[in-house]
Amino acid sequence: MIPNQWYVLLESRQVQSKPVGVTRLGEKLVFWRDEAGHVSCLRDRCPHRGIELSKGQVIHDHLQCPFHGFEYDTSGQAVVIPANGRNAPVPKAFKAHSYPTHEAHGFIWTWWGDDPPANLEPPRFFGDLGENFTYRTVYDPWDAHYSRVIENQLDVVHLPFIHHNTIGRGNRTVVDGPGIEWVDDDRFYVYVYNRVDDGAPPRKPDEVPIPDPSGFRLEFIFPNLWQNRIGDDVRIVAAFVPVDEGHTLLYLRFYQRFMRLPVLRELVTWAAMPFNVLVAHQDRRVVVTHQPQPSGLRIGEKLIQGDRPIIEYRRRRQELIEKANMA
Ligand code: FES
Ligand SMILES: [Fe+2]
Repeated sequence: MIPNQWYVLLESRQVQSKPVGVTRLGEKLVFWRDEAGHVSCLRDRCPHRGIELSKGQVIHDHLQCPFHGFEYDTSGQAVVIPANGRNAPVPKAFKAHSYPTHEAHGFIWTWWGDDPPANLEPPRFFGDLGENFTYRTVYDPWDAHYSRVIENQLDVVHLPFIHHNTIGRGNRTVVDGPGIEWVDDDRFYVYVYNRVDDGAPPRKPDEVPIPDPSGFRLEFIFPNLWQNRIGDDVRIVAAFVPVDEGHTLLYLRFYQRFMRLPVLRELVTWAAMPFNVLVAHQDRRVVVTHQPQPSGLRIGEKLIQGDRPIIEYRRRRQELIEKANMA
């Protein structure tokens, strides 16, 4: 995992009035929503005797441990120790580790790191995915490291093989480019130019054009968000939610706005999901067999030109890991 990053870890609808205990990034975390609707994330371990706070309950703007009733505020600080009496001051040491959270677009992000900077910027999302889209999400478990699930969604070489009867129909085995465009330090686009093999060698990445911005491309935002921009009105978005070193939850969303009629637009969105899941499962079958599981720059793989999006991902990932380690 890359420290000091905003990770999408849940969807908004997963955190309602009860606290929710989940494993994310190899840790047990509790997410809870106070009565004002604000979501917080704490390490799911009561500083008193190590009970899971997620088994407790929300009382106004506090999370109460089920065992001895200690109450914690959104920063993780214990503010009530019932056994000491309501007038007793609570020592600062009674504090559960808290992580900054951010909720937007139906996702909940957590900033995973040790000391968040004072000027912590909110996480980024896909700027052109406005509110007039309708979407539906499935949560799909993969027995794989999240870096491999990401790489799979950046892999344009596999399309005519793994997806020969779905999105990779047409036997376009030769990979021109692919085109890569870094939009900023932590976001890049991939332009796909696969074609049938006519004997001509693949064009180099700098020989393929950067197409019209309203067209098809893949987009990736570090550390765990991806969009397949199929067109202005149709998108697939994935959040690669790291559970632990060997498990990932793929939050797969289908967005559309070509059908806008009330009821019908829900139906159309819903009807697209089985196909998207089928395609994801074509991938999953092979991705879980990667050896080793976590990706990296030096893991003994022999890469080709068409793997360039994966190389770009690995380079930046490595840089971010080194930067976090130096800090
Ligand atoms: S273990 Fe949580 S209050 Fe005692
Ligand atoms: Fe695939």
